[in-house]
Amino acid sequence: MSSNPDSFPAYLISGTPTGVSAAFTMLSEADLDPGEVTVRVQYASVNFKDALAATGKGKIIRRFPCVGGIDASGVVDASSHPRFKPGDSVIVHSHGFGVSHHGGYAGRARVPADWVNALPPGMTALEAVTLGVAGYTAALAIDLMELNGLAPAKGKVLVNGATGGVASVSIDLLAQRGYHVVAVTGKPTQAEYLRALGAAEVIASGELPAGTKPLEPALWQGAVDSLGGAPLGALARSMQREGVIASIGNAAGLDFSTSVLPFILRGVRLLGVNSDNEPAVRERIWARLGGDMRPQHLARIAHVVPWAQLPAAIDAVANGRARGRTVIELAPADH
Ligand SMILES: NC(=O)c1ccc[n+]([C@@H]2O[C@H](COP(=O)([O-])OP(=O)(O)OC[C@H]3O[C@@H](n4cnc5c(N)ncnc54)[C@H](OP(=O)(O)O)[C@@H]3O)[C@@H](O)[C@H]2O)c1
Repeated sequence: MSSNPDSFPAYLISGTPTGVSAAFTMLSEADLDPGEVTVRVQYASVNFKDALAATGKGKIIRRFPCVGGIDASGVVDASSHPRFKPGDSVIVHSHGFGVSHHGGYAGRARVPADWVNALPPGMTALEAVTLGVAGYTAALAIDLMELNGLAPAKGKVLVNGATGGVASVSIDLLAQRGYHVVAVTGKPTQAEYLRALGAAEVIASGELPAGTKPLEPALWQGAVDSLGGAPLGALARSMQREGVIASIGNAAGLDFSTSVLPFILRGVRLLGVNSDNEPAVRERIWARLGGDMRPQHLARIAHVVPWAQLPAAIDAVANGRARGRTVIELAPADH
């Protein structure tokens, strides 16, 4: 990191006539967007959405140029909001962070207080960013699913895109809550990793039943769906009565096709999950992640990468070579 106290490294995404370009640069606090809380970033991460943003594979960035990174953890440097004071350890994620407001790939982040949460007691900045927006969304999904009837005794829970960040944390959380988790992956060579997180079964995505009838055999009481697209349509047809699907992502596509029959004949519940939540919801979910939903396998899930290797890490996530959560180390030695 720079010795100039007002200057820090950043990874800036710029618009070009043909798409986007991203590069390391130096910024100062005057370059940051307005906000009530300034954070010295210790860790950021590479989410699927970050990879789409930085490579231009997806139209994610809403304001160019923009520092990438939709989550980060670190220590509060300055705060004009009563909930935070200098020295607090915090996690920042969601809303415009790294999308329409400079994000976590920088030595400093300045954001609205509503995008910030104090770390739960005993949680480190590394653990918090290993969770990040992915772990938060996994916990939110399970919270919503259980409010809608999910319970360990009712049957199996499928988690697709299983080696991904959202899915890895979901497997950990579901398994420790007593669910029989079936991990579905395009990388069956990672079966040992998935079993170590708590999956009771691992199925290669190509081996899932591929029927197209409006109602297929009812296999799952729950499903955590990171994929969208055709896999989501197939899931809807394969749910048990009153089965619950959490629709989180679109790694396999935006559009899906099914009939109304799973919903009106089996009472299947399709829950939309969005991590852009108001502070009260964020407080509750982060408290659960530090309490009754505390994950057990974060060290296994985290793949920690030095700052200088951020572009290579983005490339790995963009091209499906990553596993678990890719954590970017900015300034861990500060604390
Ligand atoms: N709703 C929200 O608020 C919210 C919050 C966080 C994330 N998300 C979304 O949730 C999804 C997962 O995010 P993430 O950060 O966990 O991503 P990730 O770490 O990149 O994981 C996605 C996983 O999906 C599988 N996959 C990737 N490309 C695929 C393709 N073309 N076809 C089929 N499977 C594919 C891979 O798993 P396998 O190789 O094991 O199959 C991959 O590891 C993304 O769409 C993301 O944008 C939404």
